[in-house]
Amino acid sequence: MTARKIIIDTDPGQDDAVAILLALASPEEIDVLGITAVAGNVPLPLTQKNARIVCELAGKTDVPVYAGCDAPLNRKLVTAEHVHGKTGLDGPTLPDPQMPLTEGHAVDFIIDTLRGHDAGTVTLCPLGPLTNIATAFQKAPDIVEKVQEIVLMGGAYFEVGNITPAAEFNIYVDPEAADIVFKSGAPIVVMPLDVTHKALVTKPRNDAFRALGTEPGIAVAEMTDFFERFDKEKYGSVGAPLHDPCVTAYLIKPELFTGRHINVEVETGSGLTLGMTVADWWRVTDRAPNAMFMGDLDADGFFNLLTERLARL
Ligand code: BDR
Ligand code: CA
Repeated sequence: MTARKIIIDTDPGQDDAVAILLALASPEEIDVLGITAVAGNVPLPLTQKNARIVCELAGKTDVPVYAGCDAPLNRKLVTAEHVHGKTGLDGPTLPDPQMPLTEGHAVDFIIDTLRGHDAGTVTLCPLGPLTNIATAFQKAPDIVEKVQEIVLMGGAYFEVGNITPAAEFNIYVDPEAADIVFKSGAPIVVMPLDVTHKALVTKPRNDAFRALGTEPGIAVAEMTDFFERFDKEKYGSVGAPLHDPCVTAYLIKPELFTGRHINVEVETGSGLTLGMTVADWWRVTDRAPNAMFMGDLDADGFFNLLTERLARL
């Protein structure tokens, strides 16, 4: 099996960090061409720094990390320090990164990488607001047909919203960008809250991370210790939902997930439901399917995979 070439577009975020660690721990299946940071959970200066902290935690300092868009296409940035803490990576004490940011803009890296590879050989993995991806598609529409697949975390159907009653955070922050991506025609796989709220770090799962005894294992345990308080208070969950790692786990073991190929559109006009992913789960319209929208996962299989891979770092 040749490793799948990917670009991780991200706003770390503790769960982004775990998603990146999982990818970097899995070189047989995943070849991370680069990491592009976007403003989201925290502002861009922190997300690009956090992406480098995570690469160093994984011991993979040769992965290029680029800074991208510092604000949504045409809205003010909404951040989520109430979930992720002031730094975005609150929990463990991790050293400032030594590896430099790679020169150049993340959007240009995405464009150049897709143009520089054969069509259908590079997958985009957005873990935050879709600003960088939409900007790249707007600037270079020729790259859309070169994308192998977009596997993203965002949206919700049955679980509805986590930042407003109707919207999930990544889509809500930049709904216009999400609209561009969902209408792009590129093949899309969506990991919505419906799936990620089932990827919960219970105490035994957290203990298993810590028991690895390695720096990454302990850091992941401490990140989820911090991050879980929000979902415990809000939803009464048993632990932190690992939203973004669903994306990288899918690349390794797609059989852990099940869903439906359906039409998904993004609300950009309504004040009340801005950023809602209107997913035609029951296929009640004749709108053409544009996304594989996941609905369930094998949570034990997911955590077994994650723990086994973290042990490799
Ligand atoms: C998404 O929003 C962020 O807070 C997380 O990192 C994840 O990407 C969940 O709604
Ligand atoms: Ca994220």
